[in-house]
Amino acid sequence: MPRSRIFTMVLAAWAALALLVFPALAQEKPKSLYARLGGYDAIAAVTDDFFGRMEKDPQLSRFFKYMSTDSKRRARQLTVDLLCHMTGGPCFYIGRDMRTSHQGMGITPQDWELSVKYLKETLNHFKVPAKEQEEVLKAIEATRKDIVEPPGK
Ligand code: HEM
Repeated sequence: MPRSRIFTMVLAAWAALALLVFPALAQEKPKSLYARLGGYDAIAAVTDDFFGRMEKDPQLSRFFKYMSTDSKRRARQLTVDLLCHMTGGPCFYIGRDMRTSHQGMGITPQDWELSVKYLKETLNHFKVPAKEQEEVLKAIEATRKDIVEPPGK
């Protein structure tokens, strides 16, 4: 086979490969919610603001009243890590699951609604866009069944 023919064939094979590979490379991976929220620092700031609002509320303050500063720091840190994990960030959550860690506290549907109200206030405070707010609230809503206790329990 003449050399020029081999050269043309190799070139054609490379061109075909490039046509297959480059569009796949060019397709940008959708950004995780974690990244769109602004990463770890943003999630930590959201958690601190949210905890602050919950603690100040006369109805919700009962949950935090007798916690030591260290226990509060621990719960805060685990919440940051959980949110990081839930939103697609690079964290590995090592805390307890939501049912185990909240069972027995007697968190009522009213407590839950209040906490959601404060979470919305926090997200607005940090000017989180509507789409990301919706995604955060949806992820939190999924934990409700494990955190809220049916009356009488
Ligand atoms: C009305 C709503 C809520 C209240 C009153 C509440 C209260 C608390 C309290 C008092 C603790 C400390 C428990 C302890 O030290 O043993 C705690 C732990 C924790 N909470 Fe919540 N919580 C609420 C909702 C949530 C939500 C929505 C999340 C996140 C999805 C969350 C994530 C956590 C985590 C990660 C911990 C630490 C778990 C562990 O100790 O392993 N909480 N919560």
